[in-house]
Amino acid sequence: MKETKILIVYDSRTGNTEKMAFAVAEGVKEMNGSTAIVKKVDETKLDDLLKADGIIIGSPTYYGQMSSKVKELFDESVKIHGKLTGKVGAAFTSAGGTATGAETSILSILQAMLVHGMIIQGRADNKHYGVACVNAPDEGAVKLCRELGKRTAGLVAKLVKG
Ligand SMILES: Cc1cc2nc3c(=O)[nH]c(=O)nc-3n(C[C@H](O)[C@H](O)[C@H](O)COP(=O)(O)O)c2cc1C
Repeated sequence: MKETKILIVYDSRTGNTEKMAFAVAEGVKEMNGSTAIVKKVDETKLDDLLKADGIIIGSPTYYGQMSSKVKELFDESVKIHGKLTGKVGAAFTSAGGTATGAETSILSILQAMLVHGMIIQGRADNKHYGVACVNAPDEGAVKLCRELGKRTAGLVAKLVKG
């Protein structure tokens, strides 16, 4: 059975989004046959994106959008435009408050993924677009991050293994 690779890319200046990234990775590992690879955004190469079956990106909320480092990776990814089509994507963010731009930040990441032709799964319950938390993730947010990782890995497994 093919092992699926889920790449978790994150930016984090003060460590909050980083904590979320590692919780997402724990969730990915709960799905049998899924490998989680966690990378800082400035250490992520285009080849890492190409090799992944699923790509989950986390950014701090900066002015209601993804950080410039995450945007830089997307802008760089024009070199492989068309080659991420059909890969599964998901996003998460840490913000400084509630209703202060977290959802728009997540959507800014998902929007770029859609332009790449990636597949995004919404969530019918709470946290429809991805996981957002205020500052460092509390226990509830950590659980949601794990669920995001596991659910994304589950969708990847369905698509890759049939
Ligand atoms: C340049 C900058 C812009 C920010 N813009 C927002 C914002 O629009 N809304 C918000 O809620 N928090 C904003 N924040 C706060 C961060 O999103 C918040 O501190 C987050 O937890 C940082 O995540 P990190 O620890 O992973 O760096 C901003 C912080 C910085 C440094």
